[in-house]
Amino acid sequence: MQPKHFISLLDLTSDEFRRLIHRAKELKTNKDPDFQPLKGQVLAMIFEKSSTRTRISFATGMAQFGGNALFLSPRDIQLGRGEPLEDSAKVISSMVDCIMLRTHSHEMVTTFAKYSSVPVINGLTDLLHPCQLLADMQAFFEHRGDIEGKMVTWVGDGNNMCHSYINAARVLNFKLNIACPEGYYPKQTIVDNAKGRVHIFNSTEAAAENSDLIVTDVWASMGQEGEQKKRELAFKDFQVTKNTMNAANSDALFMHCLPAHRNKEVTAEVIDGSQSVVFDAAENRLHAQKALLEFLLC
Ligand code: CP
Ligand code: NVA
Repeated sequence: MQPKHFISLLDLTSDEFRRLIHRAKELKTNKDPDFQPLKGQVLAMIFEKSSTRTRISFATGMAQFGGNALFLSPRDIQLGRGEPLEDSAKVISSMVDCIMLRTHSHEMVTTFAKYSSVPVINGLTDLLHPCQLLADMQAFFEHRGDIEGKMVTWVGDGNNMCHSYINAARVLNFKLNIACPEGYYPKQTIVDNAKGRVHIFNSTEAAAENSDLIVTDVWASMGQEGEQKKRELAFKDFQVTKNTMNAANSDALFMHCLPAHRNKEVTAEVIDGSQSVVFDAAENRLHAQKALLEFLLC
């Protein structure tokens, strides 16, 4: 039998997504040190790209659950010297209980999942970042209750985080406005599959109207550092400012997956202001990751 993987939010039903959020909220408040459901289990973490939150939340979550996490850089394992993905997936999964990967190519994670005998988790690819959405949605539910029927506005690049917001809109049934410059739109197939829940705007303020949540992310993602200057020009009218927040509902929240660049994609006033819940969402990475590990492994 194929193990349960978490490659995309579309791997979850809406009921499973909501149960994960509720479980993460429970784990956040009930810190019982004797609750060790993953005692003796090992998570392999393969990182092709940098990470603070993803690495620490998975390693800490495994430790708190009584297990272990192995940090593996492709530079140090044979994968980086060309060992085939299929062989690596078969070998690594024969020794550990779960594998988390952060890669450039999304296909690398799907190929790993195909040949792995244990659950595979997508810790971010160029296409998707589903783990972050578990934490963001948990933060929204904590502050405002269920997101069903609410309006969310994404400002900026149609990137991995934007794609994951589109998938979250499908699974949790909310409306998503995307304010994005031409040439940086999210993938059309991902938008089309959200069947009318997603609308693209070329004005940040127009997109933000009636929104309950404003979200943004870096203008140049990992791997796009060489495009920084070009992107700063393209995105200069797609910054989240006080005016953006004023165009949204008065109780709208602000989120950013972090790391953030103050006064680039978001002003310092907004990210450090009273509507921002970025650090709640960042902490939730730990609780959400634990809920996910329990869901996949127990
Ligand atoms: N938001 C997020 O995934 O952070 P890291 O890159 O630090 O893991
Ligand atoms: N879009 C960003 C998210 C970082 C957590 C990136 O891929 O670099």
